[in-house]
Parts: sequence; structure tokens; C-alpha cells
Amino acid sequence: MAKIKAGVIGAGIGTYHIEGYQAHEDAEVVALCDLNEELLAETGEEYGIEELFTDYEDMLELDLDCVSVCVPNKFHAPLTIGCLKAGKNVLCEKPLARTAREGQRMVDAAEKAGLTLMIQFNNRFRPEAKMLKGHVDAGTFGDIYFARCGWIRRNGIPGWGSWFTSEEVAGGGPLIDLAVHMLDLTMWLMGNPEPELCLASTYSVFGPQMEGLGPWGTPDPKGTFDVEDMAVGMLKFAGGQTILLEASWASRIKREWVYSTLMGTEAGASLERVFAVDGIDDTAIDTLEIYTQEQDEAVDRVVKLEPDEAMGRHTAVQHFVDCLIEGEEPISPATDGLRIMKILDAMYKSADSGRAVKIK
Ligand SMILES: NC(=O)c1ccc[n+]([C@@H]2O[C@H](COP(=O)([O-])OP(=O)(O)OC[C@H]3O[C@@H](n4cnc5c(N)ncnc54)[C@H](O)[C@@H]3O)[C@@H](O)[C@H]2O)c1
Repeated sequence: MAKIKAGVIGAGIGTYHIEGYQAHEDAEVVALCDLNEELLAETGEEYGIEELFTDYEDMLELDLDCVSVCVPNKFHAPLTIGCLKAGKNVLCEKPLARTAREGQRMVDAAEKAGLTLMIQFNNRFRPEAKMLKGHVDAGTFGDIYFARCGWIRRNGIPGWGSWFTSEEVAGGGPLIDLAVHMLDLTMWLMGNPEPELCLASTYSVFGPQMEGLGPWGTPDPKGTFDVEDMAVGMLKFAGGQTILLEASWASRIKREWVYSTLMGTEAGASLERVFAVDGIDDTAIDTLEIYTQEQDEAVDRVVKLEPDEAMGRHTAVQHFVDCLIEGEEPISPATDGLRIMKILDAMYKSADSGRAVKIK
């Protein structure tokens, strides 16, 4: 069988995509594209990729089966749609786009082309998440009626003044950057309930003063910071479930904490990643605990799993390749990314208006 031929656009987090494809025995990365010529040459050499491009449209002339779109959020929609129109399946980084309107155009383009469009919700591919999903499907928790989830940092603003902190390019701050992951994971574990209503607040306390910077990127004092640095919200679902959500790039807390806590009629669970140093994945410790009541006693079950420092990023890419080979629907189709974008749009609207907002 011929190998799946992949192209990757964006050599930042895109390197995880390259590694994911290269670790799959039936896939190869034949091309890489980045606007930054120096980074492009360096990354091409590091991973042994010979076909290098600064214009993604030139790359699309190659005979590729798929493309990973790993560029700033503003470019997810145009590049993904361009790839789909050129007949390539796409794995797009999260968030799906800056808004649900842009995301809808991407989903429509995939449907029209009859091609696969998967979103890189890599947290679903973490060993803890897979284990929890197995328990959910086996009925361990009964009905999950409430969850708390979030991703909060003490000092973790990414690249102050870069695209990350520009509303025009990113679409928002930690809500669209970080919360998107844990909200998706939590809703997926809850069986993707139908969202109805949200009430949210956003704050911008440290960013405007250039405080709370994270360990990545070179700050650009000439750049802008016009997004939130913290967001909180409450979501209500048609089946009566509730989620409390929080996200911050900068806040006066002990340390970076990524979590999803589920409460069910039979059992509860806590999935956590706690960082020793904000933003540095190899200082993080992952835990998964399940809480039950057995013979009238409270029992805590600690699940021991092989750590995955890459947070499922490689295994998600490998799953995408498997889906292309087997002709199967991915675990995280773009339509799930669109559902999350509709919620995030409503949360920003609620924060701006100070009112609860219905989610359409
Ligand atoms: N899944 C995750 O864990 C995760 C982690 C980080 C970032 N991301 C997402 O990945 C995307 C990229 O983030 P990043 O951290 O790699 O950003 P980055 O700024 O580090 O890298 C983006 C790269 O894309 C290149 N680029 C920009 N526009 C381009 C274009 N039109 N054509 C070709 N190259 C272009 C830039 O030169 C840059 O090298 C974002 O959507 C972000 O939300 C996901």
C-alpha cells in the first residue's frame, strides 16, 4: 500500500504534526510550508523534508493526500478551504476558526468536497481521556449532570504583542486558545449535550500592562494586546446539565492547572495536569482519579497510566492517518469544532453585553 503523503503548513506547533506523521508506518511528510524562510529551512533540515514552500498554494500542486493546517487562527479558514478545494483532506489545529461563521464555511467546504476535515482536539487522545471515555461508555458514572473544567495559568501569556494577543488574528485570548481544549474534552465525555444558554465574563488585568508573560516567544512591545487574559462562564444544556468553565493566561494563582471534573449519578472523576513551571510540558504531572461509593464507604480510585508529555498531539495525527486509510470518520470531526465555536461566540457576546446569551 502506498503511504499517505502529508504536507504541513506552519512550523510552530506544526512540528508535532510532522512527528505524528513520521511515527506512523503508513505515512510520510513530503512537504512543509512556512512564511518564515529561516524557520522553514531549519525545520526542513531537522525532519528531513525536502519540498519546502513559502506559498501554500504552490505546495498544493504536489500529489498530497492530506495537509495539516497549523497557522494562526485567522488563516485556518482560508487555508483549510484552499486545501479542500485542491482535493486534500485536512487536519486543522484548534480552534476551528476565529468565529463560528468562519468555521461553518470550512465545514461546508469539506462537505462539498466530500473530504475529511478533522480538528486537532488532541486532549481527547490523551491516555487519561481515552480511559475516562471508556468508563463513561461503560456507564461507570451514570448520568453526568455537572462538570467543572478549565485551563488557568499564573504567568502564561503567549508571545505578548504577537498574533496570539491580537483579536484580529487570534479571535480572542485564553477562552479561544486554552478553554477550547477542556470545554471540548468535557463535553465529549458528557456525550456532547446540546448547549442552550451561557453567562460569561472576561477580564483583561495583566496583559495590558505587559505583565504575566509566559515562557514562549519574544515579546514585541510594539505589538497589541486587545484580548482578554481571563474568562469565566457557566453553560446550561438542553438535558439540564451544567458546566462551569474558567480560562486564564495570567492570574494570581499557585501554578498552571488544566482540569476537568465530572460529577455523575453513580461516580465522579477528576482529570488534571499540574505544571511545576507554567507552560513547560515536561514539568507537568497528569493524574486521573475516579470517585465512587462502595459498601457505604467513599472510595478514591487512582488510575496509573503511561504519561504522554505531548498531550495526545502525536496520537491525534496518527488517528487522522488511520481514518484516511480506513475511510472512517475521525473521533474529532470539524463539526465538533464548530459546536464549540458557537459556544465561544456566545460567551464573548455574553461578556460584552453583561447578559445571558442563548446558544444557536
Ligand atoms: N493543539 C495544541 O496543543 C496547540 C498548541 C499551540 C498552538 N496551537 C494552535 O496552532 C496554531 C499555530 O500556533 P503556533 O503556536 O504554532 O503559532 P506560531 O506563531 O508559533 O507558528 C505559526 C507559524 O505559521 C507560519 N504562518 C503564518 N501564516 C502562514 C501562512 N499563511 N502560510 C504559511 N505559514 C504561515 C508562521 O510563520 C509561524 O512559523 C494556532 O491555531 C494555535 O491555536 C495548538
